[in-house]
Amino acid sequence: MSKKLLIGTGVALSLLFSPLSQGFAEGPTPGERKQVENVAHRGATGYAPENTMAGFDLAVKMKADYIEIDLQRSKDGKLVVIHDTTVDRTTDGTGKVGDLTFEQLRSLDAGSWKAEQFAGEQIPTFEEILDRYHGKTGILIELKAPELYPGIEEQVAAALKERNLHKPQNEKIILQSFNFESMKKMDKLLPKVPIGVLTSNRAHTTVEALQEFSTYADWFNPSYGIVTEELVDQVHALDMQIGSWTVRSQEAADFLFDMGVDAIITDYPDYVDPRK
Ligand code: G3P
Ligand code: CA
Repeated sequence: MSKKLLIGTGVALSLLFSPLSQGFAEGPTPGERKQVENVAHRGATGYAPENTMAGFDLAVKMKADYIEIDLQRSKDGKLVVIHDTTVDRTTDGTGKVGDLTFEQLRSLDAGSWKAEQFAGEQIPTFEEILDRYHGKTGILIELKAPELYPGIEEQVAAALKERNLHKPQNEKIILQSFNFESMKKMDKLLPKVPIGVLTSNRAHTTVEALQEFSTYADWFNPSYGIVTEELVDQVHALDMQIGSWTVRSQEAADFLFDMGVDAIITDYPDYVDPRK
């Protein structure tokens, strides 16, 4: 039985016998779009530097349902929000994230590379992100290369627990990674927080692979190049949801709407909901 089925059997039974279940079963009428979670990839990255407060603030302003963040760790153990395992591309510094102290990371300019108007943006900490955005928008937390940071799962769990963000329905928090072992561990540490697996590998879309993911994951999150309607149906049949990335054009967003995914992870929140 899938993780979600185990947790949600009671909820499902009550919905089944509720008059509301009729409405849920009908789904969108032809020409209508189903409600899709609009996830701002590393913030509103099309318009502001990725993984910075400027980009996350803009995503909230654009009414994204979630911000997506990439989590790593400094040499002295602080959880920081940055995508690459080196600081070279997105700051004015050089070196590996894990070889630099928090003070060194914090002294870097994480905004100028995008545009001069963002000069002075700093690499955020995980705790700053949780404190600033929980309750304002959902947070899709990616553990980036957790194999480089032994014990990062326990640290993430502790930070969420300290803020009471590990309980079901409390806040929109999802954890995801390309590292499946790390996600299995997170599921054990925080059984009520939704887990996502990331992949761009078609080998991970077989029935067997999807069944294995569904024992601990709630979300299957593939790159949009491997998304098909059949895959979306298979994921739903296993009672998981599917979120796909990375949208950088209106055509890509429209394709994913047509496929029937549940979340679109985008550099441009306005492509997913032009009203926002
Ligand atoms: O959320 C999906 C996406 O972030 C995965 O790829 O490389 O942008 O972290 P990447
Ligand atoms: Ca990411």
